[in-house]
Amino acid sequence: MKSRAAVAWEAGKPLSIEEVDVQGPKAGEVLIRVVATGVCHTDAFTLSGDDPEGIFPSILGHEGGGVVEEIGEGVTSVAVGDHVIPLYTPECGQCKFCLSGKTNLCQAIRVTQGQGLMPDGTSRFSLGGKQLHHFMGTSTFSEYTVMPEIAVAKINKAAPLDKVCLLGCGITTGIGAVLHTAKVEPGSTVAVFGLGGVGLSVLQGAVLAKASRIIAVDINEDKFEMAKLLGATDCINPKNYDAPIQDVIVDLTDGGVDYSFEAIGRTETMRSALECCHKGWGESTIIGVAGAGQEITTRPFQLVTGRVWRGSAFGGVKGRSQLPGYVEQYMQGDIKVDEMVTHTMGLEDINKAFDLMHSGESIRSVVIF
Ligand code: APR
Ligand code: ZN
Ligand code: ZN
Repeated sequence: MKSRAAVAWEAGKPLSIEEVDVQGPKAGEVLIRVVATGVCHTDAFTLSGDDPEGIFPSILGHEGGGVVEEIGEGVTSVAVGDHVIPLYTPECGQCKFCLSGKTNLCQAIRVTQGQGLMPDGTSRFSLGGKQLHHFMGTSTFSEYTVMPEIAVAKINKAAPLDKVCLLGCGITTGIGAVLHTAKVEPGSTVAVFGLGGVGLSVLQGAVLAKASRIIAVDINEDKFEMAKLLGATDCINPKNYDAPIQDVIVDLTDGGVDYSFEAIGRTETMRSALECCHKGWGESTIIGVAGAGQEITTRPFQLVTGRVWRGSAFGGVKGRSQLPGYVEQYMQGDIKVDEMVTHTMGLEDINKAFDLMHSGESIRSVVIF
């Protein structure tokens, strides 16, 4: 079948709107009509060419919401008409990782996903006979996309797909890091570095966890209004201080915070986030994705004296079993998503979403097909 899609032909070039060919689902796969998709930094990172694992030509996009249009042989857990969120971290329930109960990093299709292919080693996308690659196993910048059954989360049909698509990446990453990875307890003090879509979602998670004090850190003070709206008790700009920001936070909190989160992707702020934690028990979670090849540093004594450094992907959330619950929490008003949607546009204007992201104007743009 034909599908409108934004194709990334090569690194550093704008996406090009094309009518591509999509092959129907094979065994264990489903065809999804994507209703809406967010545009995230990882899409921009790959498009820029800075991602050494980026593959071209490909169809990017991984923050989608859609409807199952067709199912392949043997598919039993979803049916035509189901509403789903595509998962770049699947949940097979059978691999060593899934069975461990300790991680959400299912590895069942990791290798082919990294190659931009479906689990059988082929692509469902082409244009004029030329193969186009999948991206993150999701490729939500196409109106129709094919996904393995183990990589879709079936959600409440009443949920608006043009909003809950954002639960497919950034928002869940932020909230999940607080609730699943750090497991912040009521009454804790929390510091959040970076107030983009991910950091703002960490604030929401801290509120859900009943943190007593939530310190928001950003060099762009325009972000503070929204941060306060979402529950930050203090907003600080490192540029307003001569001392390193970790020292400022340690002073403000009588020795440091119980939990910190880095949602920027810079190794310097990762260090600050660790070192603003309280001696003896403070825990810092890295969420931001640093550039390829970068390394973090701190003095080992920081860890010897009881601080903990950890990290998580997709907030440690198991997509099939736990993401539908996030959608329910959104429906009940406990998770805010609408506030994150600062811009919407049609597929033909998708390149504007990248411009808005680079200029720092948007929290999230949502493309509606
Ligand atoms: N100190 C404090 N804040 C900073 C600094 C700094 N040195 N540098 C940038 N920031 C702020 C920016 O002003 C911005 O508000 O960090 C925020 C980052 O937000 P976004 O760029 O919107 O990023 P977001 O979508 O939230 O993702 C953050 O998580 O998933 C990863 O790849 C993603 O690494 C990225 C990170
Ligand atoms: Zn993302
Ligand atoms: Zn698995």
